[in-house]
Amino acid sequence: TDVSLIRNFSIVAHIDHGKSTLADRLLEYCDAVAKREMKKQLLDSMDLERERGITIKLNAARIEYPAEDGKTYVLNLIDTPGHVDFSYEVSRSLAACEGALLVVDASQGVEAQTLANVYLALENDLEIITVLNKIDLPAADPYRIAEEVEATIGLDCTEAIPASAKTGVGIQEILEAVVKNVPPPPGPTGGPLRALIYDSVYDEYKGVIVYFRIVDGEIRRGDKIKFMANGVEREVIEVGVRKPGAYEMERLGTGEVGYMVCGVKNVLDARVGDTITSAKEPSEEPLDGYEEAKPMVFCGLYPTDAEDYEILRDSLGKLKLNDAALAYEPEASSAMGFGFRCGFLGLLHMEIVQERLEREYNLDLVITAPSVVYKARTPKGELIDVDSPFKMPDADKRSGTQEPFVRLEMLTPQEYTGTLMELCQSRRGVLMDMKFVTSARGSIIYEIPLAEVITDFFDQVKSRSKGYASMEYQILEWRDQDLVRLDIKINGEDAPPLSTVCHRDQAHQRGKVLTEKLKQLIPRQMFRVPIQACIGVKPVASSAIPPMRKDVLAKCYGGDISRKKKLLNKQAKGKKRMKSMGRVNVPQEAFMAVLDLG
Ligand code: GTP
Repeated sequence: TDVSLIRNFSIVAHIDHGKSTLADRLLEYCDAVAKREMKKQLLDSMDLERERGITIKLNAARIEYPAEDGKTYVLNLIDTPGHVDFSYEVSRSLAACEGALLVVDASQGVEAQTLANVYLALENDLEIITVLNKIDLPAADPYRIAEEVEATIGLDCTEAIPASAKTGVGIQEILEAVVKNVPPPPGPTGGPLRALIYDSVYDEYKGVIVYFRIVDGEIRRGDKIKFMANGVEREVIEVGVRKPGAYEMERLGTGEVGYMVCGVKNVLDARVGDTITSAKEPSEEPLDGYEEAKPMVFCGLYPTDAEDYEILRDSLGKLKLNDAALAYEPEASSAMGFGFRCGFLGLLHMEIVQERLEREYNLDLVITAPSVVYKARTPKGELIDVDSPFKMPDADKRSGTQEPFVRLEMLTPQEYTGTLMELCQSRRGVLMDMKFVTSARGSIIYEIPLAEVITDFFDQVKSRSKGYASMEYQILEWRDQDLVRLDIKINGEDAPPLSTVCHRDQAHQRGKVLTEKLKQLIPRQMFRVPIQACIGVKPVASSAIPPMRKDVLAKCYGGDISRKKKLLNKQAKGKKRMKSMGRVNVPQEAFMAVLDLG
């Protein structure tokens, strides 16, 4: 294809603003797929995705559009994941484009999540075309929303296109704008092959399917290619484009977007962001910006039934084939048995993995409260990663501690500004900026520790704003903070799985909550059992379980029989799964209840 006739673009939108519906309409308009063959929302390919209504994995579609100027253009629509947990993948897929449609629901307005992706598009120098969608809705107010886009993002909206992905209004205008405003890709320079991988997906039959944008040179079936990050060489078995079904081609040239199959078995060998070059005449320099997506949030995953350990291990292995950012390693805990310590990009990523394990692999899991990656400074000044609270070195073996901070942006109706600021303040946030987007809505920007954001923060934002505020965060850096490891002692014995890391100022409060909770959960013993929360050897909070009265049934004699049975039953079960902490038998359920998220 003549480069001047190619347009590569993606769609940036907040969840539910109509990205998939619009993509369908664009394809349909160009007859890319016969109407009756269309499944609803072609671009989202995973079931889970469709159900949750979020786009996780990228995909592409090639559309042939006969424009008003009489020429037929090749439009490559590249899908981007909507959530910032996947911001690295978003930025790679945007790097494969010259333009982006910014879709905003004209009855809702701009949401914080959209902002993060628009900023990424602007960083990638993309031409942005604003689409005000859902104008068929009675509540739609495209003029007000256009003003809001101008105020929040600073985009000129005089040429924003009012549209309805539902009724088809504005679809042709959008396609014309893509042809006219989005620049064609630069032509070949005569240099060696360089193609950017913007997605790679594991397929059971074909192995890894690599999605790429050719920046220079061409790719033919049978070519020997090389992945620059790890030097792996392969032969191209199949090359083609998605329409959106796979469509094989002999070759793809500069500026084109396509997929290849080349005998790669693991997405780790063809990672998003890597450069494909020719094995015979390799390029000296890879394309910009290959970086490994690093897990930021860690938690323990344990099978509820110890016998499921092997299944959990195999399932994680299978998920990893398709998810280079997922990290896991075996972890044995005296309280929880055998499981895995897993690392995720963020909370959403964690939820998705957990849900897939439970649903696709039928596992029943205990998930321990998530923690971030802290850093501890050794006495020599070296920084080491601490991905599990009980691994935080003792106070005398470190000279400092750091934790990751994020830039948090919230968009909210003005009346909730106060309560949201209070929330951020109580979570160690530092106010950076505050502005009105319109007279009724404002944007608040905080710098705040990631650890504070991964607890119940999002739920709090939603409930305090009655669901109207939206938030987004991006990792900034690790900063020095006065952190402590809070240990739990049960009858004087350490219980490492219950250790947490927190700011020194929060230690007392956190300790109080934990010791009270444990007091409720651990059954009485023949003797008094003290429970303490300590920093080093110094207790900061404590509770105690009073000694047992002889007969558990004594307190309900005369009561109804089913309750007695239940108690006896509970006792029997408790016995089976007791973990002895010194002289105290702690039922596994107690640990699980303290540690479990859900
Ligand atoms: P994710 O895939 O979750 O990111 O969402 P999305 O942005 O792709 O949104 P989707 O296309 O799934 O649309 C969300 C909802 O809005 C669906 O119920 C659509 O039917 C509806 N919708 C999309 N476009 C329009 C429109 O122009 N008018 C009306 N009335 N509804 C629309």
